Amino acid sequence: MPGYELIGKEEQKEIDSIFKNGNGVLFRHGFENIRNNSNKVLEFERNFAKLVGSKYALAVTSGTAALRVALASLNIKKGDEVITQAFTFVATVESIVESGATPVCTEIDKTLNMDPDDLLKKINKKTKAVIAVHMLGVPARLDKIKKICKKQNIPLIEDTAWGCGGSYKNKFLGTWGEIGAYSFDFAKTLTTGEGGMLVFKDKNTFLNAKAWHDHGHENNPKYPRWLDTRRSSGFNFRMSELQGAVGIAQLKKLKKIIKLQNRNMEKIKRKLSLIRNIEFREIIAGSNETADALIFFVKNKKTAILCREELLKQGVGTKILPEAYTWHFAGTWKHIPSLWSNFKNKINAFPKSIRLLEASVSIPINIHMENDIPEKIYQAISKVILKNN
Ligand SMILES: Cc1ncc(COP(=O)(O)O)c(C=O)c1O
Repeated sequence: MPGYELIGKEEQKEIDSIFKNGNGVLFRHGFENIRNNSNKVLEFERNFAKLVGSKYALAVTSGTAALRVALASLNIKKGDEVITQAFTFVATVESIVESGATPVCTEIDKTLNMDPDDLLKKINKKTKAVIAVHMLGVPARLDKIKKICKKQNIPLIEDTAWGCGGSYKNKFLGTWGEIGAYSFDFAKTLTTGEGGMLVFKDKNTFLNAKAWHDHGHENNPKYPRWLDTRRSSGFNFRMSELQGAVGIAQLKKLKKIIKLQNRNMEKIKRKLSLIRNIEFREIIAGSNETADALIFFVKNKKTAILCREELLKQGVGTKILPEAYTWHFAGTWKHIPSLWSNFKNKINAFPKSIRLLEASVSIPINIHMENDIPEKIYQAISKVILKNN
């Protein structure tokens, strides 16, 4: 999670240039007579699209907003169902609820991402979109999921909140589906404080999103903004020039971030591989993960909690699993009625997912890692496993 680890003078320089060269124009539209061609959000979008190999990119205010705009661009509405997975951040489901549609969740498998077999079971006539999540930067089973969606003619959205800069079969995450949605909040690989990005395959969907995220504005060059033409109703999820400026500088660091995270993760993985009775999360062949976290399965919930306690004694934390899975597991979201009322067996709606999640330990990967961290992690985990297996 190094976006915030590698933030500094480059980002500062981009922000300063808005004031030095662009007369402090912080709005992405208009003010052409005073902004001196300073268009930070536009530049960020263009650079992002180029880097991931997409034709169309749209910057927005958050990853949650990106998902909401994605659903609007596909005209998802009340009466529709959108399928995502039981292990994700609550934002994925919230975006579906906010679109008026009903959220449906699948089980996960050992990739800790969408189980394609369960996806197939949950698709019905009402299903109008699928949101596959690359949880904590590990690619979902994109081949299988994409094939299912294609066969059923259902658009695939990739929730790439954690997957920015990761790839599968040399194609960037977010560019496999019809739409890719990214988050740049402060805990993500690339950060603009708050922020998000969308990439699209189809021009019409992109234009829908562009208008919807800006009250329906088409930003028609023939008219001043106040006389602008309208494509639809919409909302305001516009990114500001300040975020755009930070994004430009952060994007230049993305490749380096992914490389260093993978290097540090490998160091930890090599040590942990010496311990019998733990099993690493499945990474499918062809994956280039963002290496945001290293996750492994232990015997049960009790052992996972003991691992966390022992890691804390060594000054090492865990990330989401086991301590915060309730914010990331649909089986606990009683506060979302349209999701909860769908569960036939409320006590145990996702038996496979809960078994995997409760027995998972997730180690956060940082860029600035002290040399003794892999050894400390090894000591903590081996001590627990020795006593509890
Ligand atoms: C899987 C997933 N989707 C969406 C989001 C929402 O992103 P944001 O915090 O930028 O709104 C998050 C944030 O953590 C996430 O983990």
